[in-house]
Amino acid sequence: MRAVSLNYRDTVVIRLGGYVPAPPQTAPFIPLSDGAGVVESVGRGCTHFAVGDRVCSVFFPNWHAGPPALEKRRGALGLPGAAAVGGELMLFDEDALTGYPDFLNEREAATLPCAALTAWRAMFVDVSLKPGDTVILQGTGGVALFGLQFAVAAGLRTIVTSSSDAKLARCKDLGAAHLINYRATPDWAQEVLRITDGQGAQFIMELGGRGTLAQSLDAIAMGGHVAIVGVLADTDAAAPPFSASTMIAKSARLQGVSVGSREMFAGMCKALSHHQLSPVIGATYPWTEAAVALRSMLAGEHFGKLVLEFP
Ligand SMILES: NC(=O)c1ccc[n+]([C@@H]2O[C@H](COP(=O)([O-])OP(=O)(O)OC[C@H]3O[C@@H](n4cnc5c(N)ncnc54)[C@H](OP(=O)(O)O)[C@@H]3O)[C@@H](O)[C@H]2O)c1
Repeated sequence: MRAVSLNYRDTVVIRLGGYVPAPPQTAPFIPLSDGAGVVESVGRGCTHFAVGDRVCSVFFPNWHAGPPALEKRRGALGLPGAAAVGGELMLFDEDALTGYPDFLNEREAATLPCAALTAWRAMFVDVSLKPGDTVILQGTGGVALFGLQFAVAAGLRTIVTSSSDAKLARCKDLGAAHLINYRATPDWAQEVLRITDGQGAQFIMELGGRGTLAQSLDAIAMGGHVAIVGVLADTDAAAPPFSASTMIAKSARLQGVSVGSREMFAGMCKALSHHQLSPVIGATYPWTEAAVALRSMLAGEHFGKLVLEFP
């Protein structure tokens, strides 16, 4: 392995065993799902790769194509008892690896398997967005910034919410059209309606969960699509209740998203190559500072992806 990247999920897996309650983890336990490296050696029967190939991990090794299915979710990387990328020399089934665009370096490739693919699938597989449609990206973490880069490349009108004006300024540099500080403007749905002449957004990358869903339903347009992706603000006990009547009145769609397939990954790589999109890496740490990086992620200090590098 040459580099691995962190996802919010990794902090949950390490602390709680996963999103579905599991027994607490005991060492030794190798975590992390997203990484890139070079093939050192191949076993008999391996047909996809040769020694020296540059590869990155595949989040769902058993989901090759088509719609999601229970058996395709089995063996997701980075969970207790499953394969993972968080070591210098790792052994993988060839289905758990894939190539990636030549123009990306190993640190960049290590950010693709989960965050990038999730954003890609949510915006360009599950829904048909058209240039000029308004999309909302919540926050400035990994999924949100991939969503922003894809949306700008596709000619979508982007609104980014963040707790930090400094981070919003960086989003403007990435091409974001409208910026809302959700701390200064907790009722950010009203601001979305103002920006869109009362229409709302056609798509929302819902990353907060219970703490943001009510605002998202206020901000979504008639017939709009809310991609239910994250739980970053799920602990907010005072969150307003989910409004079924708002959804009904707006004919809005809520779609759960769980990463994507190898086929979707290939589609995403085509777009990355065509637009020469380089992932936004907020910071790179030596792998020995994994704990520092994980704490920084939990504190929400980062912008985009956090990467750990092996020497
Ligand atoms: N369903 C899937 O397949 C899938 C795949 C990947 C990730 N996820 C989930 O998606 C979420 C994001 O993952 P990630 O890896 O991109 O996380 P991340 O990089 O840790 O994102 C952290 C950022 O989220 C923003 N944030 C926190 N609370 C917010 C709120 N109330 N409103 C708006 N933004 C808020 C903050 O941005 P600011 O600092 O700018 O405020 C924070 O810096 C996580 O819940 C993760 O578990 C799901």
